[in-house]
Amino acid sequence: MSDTATPAVIRRADYAPPAFLIDTVALEFDLVAERTTVKSTLRVRRNPDAANASGRAPHLELMGEALEFVSAALDGEPYAAVRVHERGLTVENVPDAFELTLVGICNPAANTTLSGLYVSSGNFFTQCEAEGFRRITWFLDRPDVMSTYTVTLRADKAAYPVLLSNGNLVEEGDLPDGRHFARWEDPFRKPSYLFALVAGKLVALEERIRTGSGKEKLLQVWVEPHDLPKTRHAMDSLIHAIRWDEERFGLELDLDRFMIVAVSDFNMGAMENKGLNIFNTKYVLANPETATDTDFANIEAVVGHEYFHNWTGNRVTCRDWFQLSLKEGLTVFRDQEFSADMEAGNAANSAGGAAARATKRIEDVRVLRQMQFAEDAGPMAHPVRPESYVEINNFYTMTVYEKGAEVVRMYQTLFGRDGFRKGMDLYFKRHDGQAVTCDDFRHAMADANGRDLAQYERWYSQAGTPRVTVQTRYDEAARRYVVTLAQGYGEASSAARETQKGPLLIPFAIGLIGPDGRDLPLRLEGETEARGTTRVLELTDTAQTYTFEDVAAKPLPSLLRNFSAPVIVEYDYSNDELAFLLAHDSDPFNRWEAGQRLATRELLALAARAASDAPLALDDAVVAAFGRVLNDETLSPAFRELALMLPSEAYLAEQMAESNPAAVHTARQFVRRRLAQALKADWLAVYQRHRTPGAYQATPEAAGHRALKNLALSYLAELEDPAEAVRLATAQYDAANNMTDRAAALATLLNAAATAGSTWADEPLDDFYRRFENEPLVIDKWFALQATQRGTKARPVIETVRRLMAHPAFNLKNPNRARSLIFSFCSGNPAQFHAPDGSGYAFWAEQVIALDALNPQVAARLARALELWRRFTPALREKMREALENVAAQAKSRDVREIVEKALA
Ligand code: TRP
Ligand code: ZN
Repeated sequence: MSDTATPAVIRRADYAPPAFLIDTVALEFDLVAERTTVKSTLRVRRNPDAANASGRAPHLELMGEALEFVSAALDGEPYAAVRVHERGLTVENVPDAFELTLVGICNPAANTTLSGLYVSSGNFFTQCEAEGFRRITWFLDRPDVMSTYTVTLRADKAAYPVLLSNGNLVEEGDLPDGRHFARWEDPFRKPSYLFALVAGKLVALEERIRTGSGKEKLLQVWVEPHDLPKTRHAMDSLIHAIRWDEERFGLELDLDRFMIVAVSDFNMGAMENKGLNIFNTKYVLANPETATDTDFANIEAVVGHEYFHNWTGNRVTCRDWFQLSLKEGLTVFRDQEFSADMEAGNAANSAGGAAARATKRIEDVRVLRQMQFAEDAGPMAHPVRPESYVEINNFYTMTVYEKGAEVVRMYQTLFGRDGFRKGMDLYFKRHDGQAVTCDDFRHAMADANGRDLAQYERWYSQAGTPRVTVQTRYDEAARRYVVTLAQGYGEASSAARETQKGPLLIPFAIGLIGPDGRDLPLRLEGETEARGTTRVLELTDTAQTYTFEDVAAKPLPSLLRNFSAPVIVEYDYSNDELAFLLAHDSDPFNRWEAGQRLATRELLALAARAASDAPLALDDAVVAAFGRVLNDETLSPAFRELALMLPSEAYLAEQMAESNPAAVHTARQFVRRRLAQALKADWLAVYQRHRTPGAYQATPEAAGHRALKNLALSYLAELEDPAEAVRLATAQYDAANNMTDRAAALATLLNAAATAGSTWADEPLDDFYRRFENEPLVIDKWFALQATQRGTKARPVIETVRRLMAHPAFNLKNPNRARSLIFSFCSGNPAQFHAPDGSGYAFWAEQVIALDALNPQVAARLARALELWRRFTPALREKMREALENVAAQAKSRDVREIVEKALA
């Protein structure tokens, strides 16, 4: 291996500071779609903190990819001692400090990877995180090299009237030949992954606001001209995010101008480039006709997320990519809290506020358990701070983001909001302007709160989902209740097991519920008086016992309230106890949790019976418990909808000793039909009672009514005779004044039609297409609805999917479109994807290979759809292995190879 080759595996232990630093960067772009010239002038000097073990590095090694070299100059003179190679460029025998000028050419029009500089709908965009800047020019493309940037953009004025980059616009003007230019200066030092430019025919919604210190700021949301009417919600979300960060964390916007730009070709959700956030259109554009309530909520969350990165990620950034969760876990936690506060702020009273916060918490935990727990149980399992990677883009994972957010949340659970704020304040005081590590964040939390958090480091270094086993004993004579908590990992993947060294510090929130359904005041042994009704126990050993005093009657424990740690709780509740918790627990999260446990237990038992073709029956007590929730008008509609939604097929399959998607589907459908039959009149009443007539309102309350009403509709469509549901859904489709109701009606019609083998959905499906032909984000929904619809033997969904692949509106190069059809089918329709004939897997392999040649990042995401193959029934497992081997034999990119090789290892 030559000295410039990148080793196959990058290890955290091998981190070394850069040999050189780059203080300033001046970039000049001549933007031409097929041939953009980039001139880069760098002030370079030796890093005084570089390890000197191997002596003073004679050469400067810069990273570069897919670039055509034109020229190099050192201190203004042409420099010949430059070697261009596969991974970049070596500038030989450099002095201690110098100015380096490099000119290169790239081809944005041919760039289908959507990393680096690319063209989308005729406009220029960049995406540099994690390692895209090296596709624009040669550089020390690593986050611990921070520089100040000046950027000059030149382009044809008619084709590219708008020229944007990070920071402040300092100059603009016309050039000969119909060209023009703009110069931007970013006053803040930043790593290259935060660089951005945008050029093209765009327009902006603008707003001027004053921030806390009284400074005026210009806010802009840039979109293609026809999308301007869909930008209001994104702008409102941005303003709310700015206010929230000032109030909750005392963090103010530090630039005079803050821009969001929407682009329809984008690999992920959005990107926090300094002062110039670039977003997937999906997380910007909305109006009631085209966007669902979920879309509105997602836009608020993602706008918040990217804005919050300005402090957590940009002002303080990551030393290396192993520290990714330093910014992502923290920023996800911040966006979750923002969304929760926004919902709570809209609620009528504080009880309503608590309930609104709980629904957000439930949604977040559902994602964590369904996706992150699965990841942690498979071949891609890794700690929140990974030890190694082959391709960093594969590590923008549920573990780094969502488990990382839980690891941050636990500091707040341990120290309270005020203690957490103190830790944040100290973190910024110490590290503003620096590139730091997860340890630095933990130390700030520890020091600000006077705590030793050495043990807490294990949350960053151990993979796998911890299990807490609970045992309880009531001593009536002594009026004592004894709770024993034990922690371990259960069976873990070998990837996870290798990292597991010892017990974690687990904040375990607990309450005790008396026979009357009320919380008991809690006094632990050794305390003189009772304090509160929820206590956070700090489990630090393998097993610990806690004794509660003055317990007059045998209580029911409410465990891990508000999901106080990302663990699996094992406790042997009876069905009656779960029904009691579902009816009475004062912790809304655990009320929901009790219903989920009850449903999961029944569904898994039924799936086991379905797997052996045994007859199915549902416990009447379960039906009654769900009926009580359905009819409890004291509960918010949003909560009821969450409580009445059964655990997903993917989650259930993952709980089985051997995943059997067909059996899970049969069991889940059986329960849905039973609940539909037994509670038919209630579903109908709820459907009518929770209609939202009149003008569309985007409030969380109105969204809750719509969600519950549409859930009722979907249950009614499960009836043996779905005629009434079909009539209601058809009428709802025709009368809808918003996308939430229209899409829900169409989804219900598709499923009812599949079950009955009828054509009920054909006409609305065509209508939907014609109505929204010019709305790409809605056409994505049209594809996704069909990819995730129910299938039958007579009408397997794979046939529909293959037909839609040939539809003129399908385009594999557009990630949103690829996701809407291919990913929706492979990851969102388990019963059809895992067809016993292996047809789904063959389709998957074809698409991974096709995407691999266009866009490795997106291909690698799709490749992950089969990573849990070893956990499936033997017949499926064998077919999945064949498909994986097929991909392993053909895939070219590092991205896809890492995934399939780890899966097969
Ligand atoms: N940093 C971005 C965020 O979470 C995500 C991101 C990383 C990304 N790499 C990307 C977005 C590549 C688009 C493309 O906010
Ligand atoms: Zn992020």
